[in-house]
Amino acid sequence: MTTIMLVVFRVAYFYHCNYFLMIMKNAVVYYSFTHNNEKLARYLSEKLQCERLRIDTVKARNGFSVFLDILLGRRPAIRPLPKSLAAYDHVIFVSPIWAGRIAGPLRSLLHKDRALISRYSFASLCGGAPDQKEKVERELLALVGTKPEAHMELSVSVAIALHQQDKTRHTASGYRIAAGELHLYDAQLEQFIQACGLVNAL
Ligand SMILES: Cc1cc2nc3c(=O)[nH]c(=O)nc-3n(C[C@H](O)[C@H](O)[C@H](O)COP(=O)(O)O)c2cc1C
Repeated sequence: MTTIMLVVFRVAYFYHCNYFLMIMKNAVVYYSFTHNNEKLARYLSEKLQCERLRIDTVKARNGFSVFLDILLGRRPAIRPLPKSLAAYDHVIFVSPIWAGRIAGPLRSLLHKDRALISRYSFASLCGGAPDQKEKVERELLALVGTKPEAHMELSVSVAIALHQQDKTRHTASGYRIAAGELHLYDAQLEQFIQACGLVNAL
């Protein structure tokens, strides 16, 4: 009897979670220069079964323009998103962190579209520099006007640790993650999704 009740409860909970995800309109909106955060955005949107929108700059970035963006705190011109942020209940923004700040193209979007954002969270696959979380949170608050519901920084050092035997030395700023390595962060992603107030569909 207890087993039957347990099975009924689990099935009901599964359908409740998926129904919740269907009625909530969520999106992952991302910028990525060297594809780490693109892979994270894809992984997250698949977990959440939600749309994924990419931020594109008007002029393609290269190492030098990124360097100038960082140095001068520039907000490079971006193309309009394919869909308005106003269409979503909760947006998860994903981007790299450069020199302790959110990548310029995401800053451009937040500056331009802040009025269209209702609830949001922020995630980054970054070098994981210590003590930058507060600074990033202050920047988000200044740009959007409200704090994120959840804020997660995943450090590439977790994946780099798998390559201790490699001949090539990997650096935090140059490491390119393999999509298969994102499973290393599943526990943190689970916590993040809970903190966002969203239910993990898996
Ligand atoms: C110029 C530069 C500055 C960076 N500064 C930081 C930093 O301050 N904090 C951090 O955690 N990671 C930093 N990183 C690491 C990036 O956030 C990391 O490489 C990220 O995964 C790149 O994302 P992308 O592949 O999506 O562009 C920096 C990387 C570069 C190239």
